[in-house]
Amino acid sequence: MASPQTLEIVKATVPVLEEHGTAITTVFYKNMFNGHPELLDIFNETNQKLGRQQTALAMTVLAAAKHLENLTTLLPQVTQISHKHRALQILPEHYPIVGTHLLGAIKEVLGEAANDDIINAWTEAYDEIASVFIQVEHGMYEQEMWQGFAPFKVTEKVEAATDIAAFTVVPVNADLESNNTASHKPIDLSKLKLSAGQYITVKTDPTDSDRIALRHYSLFSANSDKGIQFAVRRDNRNEHNGLVSNYLHDSLEVGDTVLLSAPAGDFELNQDLVQQNDIPLVLVSAGVGVTPILSMLEAQVTANPKRPIVWVYACQNQEHHAFNNEINALLAAAENVEKHIFYFESGQILDEAWLANLPKPADIYVCGSMPFMESIIDALVSLDHGVDSVHYEPFGPKMSLELA
Ligand SMILES: Cc1cc2nc3c(=O)[nH]c(=O)nc-3n(C[C@H](O)[C@H](O)[C@H](O)COP(=O)(O)OP(=O)(O)OC[C@H]3O[C@@H](n4cnc5c(N)ncnc54)[C@H](O)[C@@H]3O)c2cc1C
Ligand code: HEM
Repeated sequence: MASPQTLEIVKATVPVLEEHGTAITTVFYKNMFNGHPELLDIFNETNQKLGRQQTALAMTVLAAAKHLENLTTLLPQVTQISHKHRALQILPEHYPIVGTHLLGAIKEVLGEAANDDIINAWTEAYDEIASVFIQVEHGMYEQEMWQGFAPFKVTEKVEAATDIAAFTVVPVNADLESNNTASHKPIDLSKLKLSAGQYITVKTDPTDSDRIALRHYSLFSANSDKGIQFAVRRDNRNEHNGLVSNYLHDSLEVGDTVLLSAPAGDFELNQDLVQQNDIPLVLVSAGVGVTPILSMLEAQVTANPKRPIVWVYACQNQEHHAFNNEINALLAAAENVEKHIFYFESGQILDEAWLANLPKPADIYVCGSMPFMESIIDALVSLDHGVDSVHYEPFGPKMSLELA
């Protein structure tokens, strides 16, 4: 527990640091990557270039420091970030590296204003915050389905829609058994307990980059009978072609091997409602955001086909309509279904006026691009769907902790 003096100094200096937050973390990353270039293989190069991770880390450390006397109130937010850290295999020994460079950056940016008392107080604060993360992540590592990044072989690669490739992969246990240096225990597919909404993390070495690149992909099915299944959209939104998605589309073929860390994430169906039929399940997705939502549809229909389901999907046009046959088969197996499809190119608009028709109360799950999710979530909240009944998964960094 931080001393009263530390609490006082930290709280008094948070506003100053918030003012310099982005500058501090920019210096922090520059110095940290100079001192530890190996960490460039863990951080997302594109997020770095676009400044996304800088903001997330700065806001989180400052937001957490405001709650230093009672960090346990932050456990839900810490847990969400820790899922990502565990998926990326962030280890306890990484925390002092971040701490040293973060404190160094505070010193550098604040200059003479950063006296010894301030630096000592923030060192203590960072250590306390870091120890909460390390503890939560320790629990996650103990439970992870396999350790580190394990090799999987691609057994199927199919086009789920224009620019969306669906991969099925199985563990490469035979090779491991014959390899004395292997650090992984064999993975038994039949014993994996995948959960709808989770994502796996791929570790790739794309040919057109000097770096290893890690990316998350949601499972489109939590059924592991055939293997682990995820789908990748070729990300070519502008002239900077997406590094990993293009690599997976162009270079990962049936028979090839890919490294995966174990499923992670807390985007999951509210299990208390799955067997009940009075609160409908509303599944809203757009584009490749259908992946975790499809696995939720499958989980619901398998567990209880009687529960009312409203399926809402938006995409560019029919060619981009992903997993149409699989979804129709699942919806046909459910007993009480509404299905609504919006093709943007045909001028079909999914807006607040339309969302006002949704049942209320309902348990709602949303996944799509950031602008799509923001507009849907804003509309649902203004339509008085409580925040506890609207769940979502952004396919990028969650920017803020949304603390008090
Ligand atoms: C929890 C989670 C689950 C996810 N699930 C899925 C999934 O199921 N399926 C899926 O397809 N994706 C999913 N994603 C997204 C996925 O992880 C990748 O972010 C995505 O594939 C893009 O990665 P990339 O390496 O191809 O693109 P990156 O190289 O990371 O680029 C990302 C975007 O930035 C643009 N860009 C790159 N460099 C620049 C620059 N210098 N200036 C401007 N723009 C630039 C690119 O054009 C691209 O549009 C998920 C993400 C998360 C966090
Ligand atoms: C107390 C210390 C830390 C805090 C508060 C913190 C906070 C965060 C936050 C808020 C995110 C974004 C989560 C999201 O995408 O939703 C994140 C992601 C990440 N963190 Fe941490 N983190 C800490 C320590 C570390 C350490 C020690 C490392 C490893 C050196 C690390 C590596 C990463 C990486 C690689 C990502 C993903 C970034 C990306 O892909 O762009 N973090 N962290």
